[in-house]
Amino acid sequence: MPVVTRVTDLIGRTPLFELATTATGTRLLLKLEQFNPTGAAKIRMAREMVLDAERRGLLSSGGHIIESTSGNTGLGLAVVAAERGYRFTAVVDHHACKDKLRAMRAMGAELVFVADEGDDNLATSAREDLAESMAAAQADAYFTEQHNNDANAVGYYAVADELLEDVDRVDILLSAVGTGGSLFGTATRLRQLGCPPHVIGVEPVGSIAFGGPGGPYWQSGTGTPPGATIGTAVDYSLLDEGVKVSDVAAFATARAVAAKLGLMLGGSAGGSVYAGLTRLEEFPAGSTVVTIVCDGGEKYLDTVFDDDWMSDRDLLDGDTEREVLGLLDRYSPARRKQLVEAR
Ligand SMILES: Cc1ncc(COP(=O)(O)O)c(C=O)c1O
Repeated sequence: MPVVTRVTDLIGRTPLFELATTATGTRLLLKLEQFNPTGAAKIRMAREMVLDAERRGLLSSGGHIIESTSGNTGLGLAVVAAERGYRFTAVVDHHACKDKLRAMRAMGAELVFVADEGDDNLATSAREDLAESMAAAQADAYFTEQHNNDANAVGYYAVADELLEDVDRVDILLSAVGTGGSLFGTATRLRQLGCPPHVIGVEPVGSIAFGGPGGPYWQSGTGTPPGATIGTAVDYSLLDEGVKVSDVAAFATARAVAAKLGLMLGGSAGGSVYAGLTRLEEFPAGSTVVTIVCDGGEKYLDTVFDDDWMSDRDLLDGDTEREVLGLLDRYSPARRKQLVEAR
């Protein structure tokens, strides 16, 4: 690693972790994006959106960036704004994880809330409306508008480049869909590189991008709540399957993986991993399945990893945690290696 002078120079080259392997050699690999600065994938697209705005003359020196964020995009933009001398305002709600909000403030971001303290509903639509009107009212302001910004997906092209440096091919790309940037940006670039994957999007039960009834959900950063508009970053032309995972299954998976392996996954990654583990044997023998882990579990110590918070919301489910522990055991890459060596 070279010695660097900017935090954004530390973006990327995140590790791949083999979580599970079947007897037929199908592997579930996790791209651990929590190893980026801010502990999340979104700093990749935050940087790209700002660079793109600069190139297009939409942001001038000392200008003002405004974005509606559930937290991780805001963290990324806070870093980029601090480095490049911009003012940054994050339009947020109280559904966002408190530590993400505190960290944004620490890095100089101004926070504007769309709801009162105590109202922890996800308010994507209200956030976006306010961010748009704030930007329209100020001459030097630029609304990065992550849901409809092409630079969002482009920010993830490097994920595909890095994947193909580490493995020969990606047969199945299976990941959470919020704005869609990470899944569809990575899929687009894999196609460009001659390795088109089967693309499986994962959203929480209650999210509306893949149809079905809308409703509340607790998985943070992912999904499209009822009433919100699905942006252009969700590229349905690249989507082979859209699946839904409940909060209970997503959080049980994050908890089981932490307890069994000491690997802390965020709730949205828990959802993707649950979808991957429960379907692993359905995939063609020898497949390489990749999940982009958007962030780590350390951000959710007060929620997903807090028994009281979980049981107050009826989200604790020992049976599902045991189901996931059983799958991790059955597909343990270390155990599989021992079995092969013993033969
Ligand atoms: C924790 C987490 N998971 C999943 C996502 C969804 O990623 P994308 O917006 O690229 O679809 C996000 C995006 O903010 C996130 O913060």
